[in-house]
Amino acid sequence: MTVGPKMESSEVNRYLTALMTNSEAIRGLTRIVADTFGPKGLDCMLVGDDGEVIITNDGAAILNAVDTAHPIARILVDAVRLQDDKVGDGTTTVSILAESLIAEGVNRILKGVPVIKVIEGIKRGIDSALAVLEKVKIPVERLDAPLLEQVALISARGHQDLAGLVFEAIQILGEEYLTKPGFKLADQVLAFEGSPTELIRGTIVNREPLNRGMPLRINDAKILIVDDALEPVKIDYQALGTEAGFNRQLHNQELLRESIDRLAEMGVKGIFADRGISDQAESHLTDSAMLGVQGVPRSEWERLAELTGARPVKREDLLKPPKELEPVLGKAAAIIVDQDSKNIRVLGFPDQKMVTLLIGAYSKEVLAEKERIIKDAAGAIQAAWSGGVVAGGGSVELGIARVLEQKAPLDLERYGYACVVEALKRPVAQICANAGYNSLEKLAEVLSRQAEANSFNFGVNCETGEVQDLIQNGICDPFLVKYHALKSAGEVAVAVLRINTIVKMKN
Ligand SMILES: Nc1ncnc2c1ncn2[C@@H]1O[C@H](COP(=O)(O)OP(=O)(O)O)[C@@H](O)[C@H]1O
Ligand SMILES: [Mg+2]
Repeated sequence: MTVGPKMESSEVNRYLTALMTNSEAIRGLTRIVADTFGPKGLDCMLVGDDGEVIITNDGAAILNAVDTAHPIARILVDAVRLQDDKVGDGTTTVSILAESLIAEGVNRILKGVPVIKVIEGIKRGIDSALAVLEKVKIPVERLDAPLLEQVALISARGHQDLAGLVFEAIQILGEEYLTKPGFKLADQVLAFEGSPTELIRGTIVNREPLNRGMPLRINDAKILIVDDALEPVKIDYQALGTEAGFNRQLHNQELLRESIDRLAEMGVKGIFADRGISDQAESHLTDSAMLGVQGVPRSEWERLAELTGARPVKREDLLKPPKELEPVLGKAAAIIVDQDSKNIRVLGFPDQKMVTLLIGAYSKEVLAEKERIIKDAAGAIQAAWSGGVVAGGGSVELGIARVLEQKAPLDLERYGYACVVEALKRPVAQICANAGYNSLEKLAEVLSRQAEANSFNFGVNCETGEVQDLIQNGICDPFLVKYHALKSAGEVAVAVLRINTIVKMKN
């Protein structure tokens, strides 16, 4: 479609109305997150109807929670969520780039450039930008490279303790684990109010043993996971009224007792059940100096199973002979009941590579923000390990803008292409503005230093205000985070600019 002389005026109006409402909505949302951007960005407080409060600096958390009636917001929110899921960081960057691309596009469309040329130009610009980005990435060779710890620190906005935890975790996990398909370091984070913040070589079961008579520490333990209740096999309620039924129930209770004895003989020291543990089973476990834990949520026993190699069983399986039960048992180096934190730590042997990034805080709000921060850092360090790094602080975007400016197409698509060039200048400008610097001045200074040194690595260090080699000063972002951010910002912009009509559906 062309906004221009060939269009009927009603068509033009319809398109422009859709465009203006949509771009305004995106602008409104981005304005909220833009102030949080970069190391000196401020926090945002979200308040729910029921008094629920979220205090955060995280773009994804804000956009997810914001109450927006505008349907176009979904496109941006979904893109941001995908960014968070895929690479775990860079969510504000997506929003700022997308908003900027759209605003630049709208400017040109209003001046009469055909919409389709703007769209094609944006696509072309994004493709070129991604190609340049690919060329300037710096691979990370070793897991213990200080640059990796820096990436975590930058992503964790200076929280040294959280960045340190994440860095230590990858040293333990090693290369093989980190590159395992589907493995996410961020999934290894567990957050509990009142817990200490520490790295655990194992996992946490956030439950207490059934009673105080059970052991508080067991070393070198075999464990069993029951994805069921640890109770005698049930007798039908009506049958229970008959003598035969009653006898069967006694028999089933006896069978469970025998099963527990058998497990004890096999060396099982801990039983973790998804559901309840009957009183009789509990007292039998206590007598046998075994640990019994009931109501363990699936997410927790799944980690336990992964750590210890245990295979969850149903209650009927307990009747099986030892030979068949042996392979379903798991092994742990230690089970420790932490009475202060009211939970149980299960530690692995050195060859069992699970880690848990345990974090705690004394208020729910602070804990939630800490959890978001460490998850970002975990995502960033994993992304940096697998894809390398680029200079942070928006300087790599600015470097790409510099290169793109020199290769602009000659046809009408150059107007769309120019939108990309302008959008790429936005991150550095916003980071500088949030840090209290004159962004135009800093932009010009960075551009000239980059050109002079022929390097993308020069940018503004917001701690000092100096323009310097940011890689040398440890201010860097994962390549994959930047790559996905640029790509999805381009997609959001194109999707928004393509919308021609807004029609209300019938219910
Ligand atoms: N000291 C610093 N100087 C300049 N830029 C920094 C500094 N520390 C972090 N940054 C930059 O801040 C940006 C990340 O800001 P953040 O608010 O986490 O947004 P996002 O949600 O996009 O990750 C990154 O580009 C990072 O390089
Ligand atoms: Mg970040």
